[in-house]
Amino acid sequence: MRKQIAAANWKMNKTLEDGKKLLNDILSGVGSLHEHQQVIFAVPFPYLIQCNEMIKGKKNLYISAQNCHHKTSGAYTGEVSVDMIHSIDIKYCIVGHSERREYFAESNAMLAEKVNLCLAKNIIPIFCCGEPLDIREAGSQNAFVEKQLEESLFHLDQEAVQKVVIAYEPIWAIGTGKTASSEQAQEMHAHLRNVIAGKYGKTVSENISILYGGSVKGANANEIFSQPDVDGGLVGGASLIAEEFLQIIAALK
Ligand code: 13P
Repeated sequence: MRKQIAAANWKMNKTLEDGKKLLNDILSGVGSLHEHQQVIFAVPFPYLIQCNEMIKGKKNLYISAQNCHHKTSGAYTGEVSVDMIHSIDIKYCIVGHSERREYFAESNAMLAEKVNLCLAKNIIPIFCCGEPLDIREAGSQNAFVEKQLEESLFHLDQEAVQKVVIAYEPIWAIGTGKTASSEQAQEMHAHLRNVIAGKYGKTVSENISILYGGSVKGANANEIFSQPDVDGGLVGGASLIAEEFLQIIAALK
């Protein structure tokens, strides 16, 4: 079975003290995970080292960065490179979150560079894609998301692309309380898997985990995650509340 993942994206929330408490509360409630299940915490940069210490030795738990820069090093004040993330032993990095695309003008081409840098350092990119509301209303979401994959991932060879985790996050469902229906999620996930199969073959497409993101919470995680092509979730708001996130973890296949 391909990896089933509950990934928390704390975004720009929590002080160190509050974050450590949240992580502790989740760690005490999480129980043992199956071999194919993973729980990932994408925490703010300043807490990566401490949070990584807290999960050390715990099976199938990982800390992730929320972003990285698309150049290797240099005069980019305030930025964080993949090398830096690698040097503190972080295994995952979110790439191309819609908030980064929108507020920091990240293009598909720039995200392809980030993906390459991550993979070169054995950091798994959690590559985000997803359409805005007007595209959904026009019914062109499939082509829109397909293009995001093509322009940021499809230069990779078969071996490399299988390392990537994809997160489909329709922008209109992020932080709005308006989740995609499980049918809408399944439809897009199946479409993406088909597109990947068309490019790389069915075996590769079956190996890639595709997470859903957008107003996932304890109460809807079961229904969304039970869809055959949904391999867990990338969770914002509900990942900031221990009981909610524990319910979400419990909903993993
Ligand atoms: P919400 O779960 O708050 O809708 O955020 C989703 C998201 O953007 C995760 O990366």
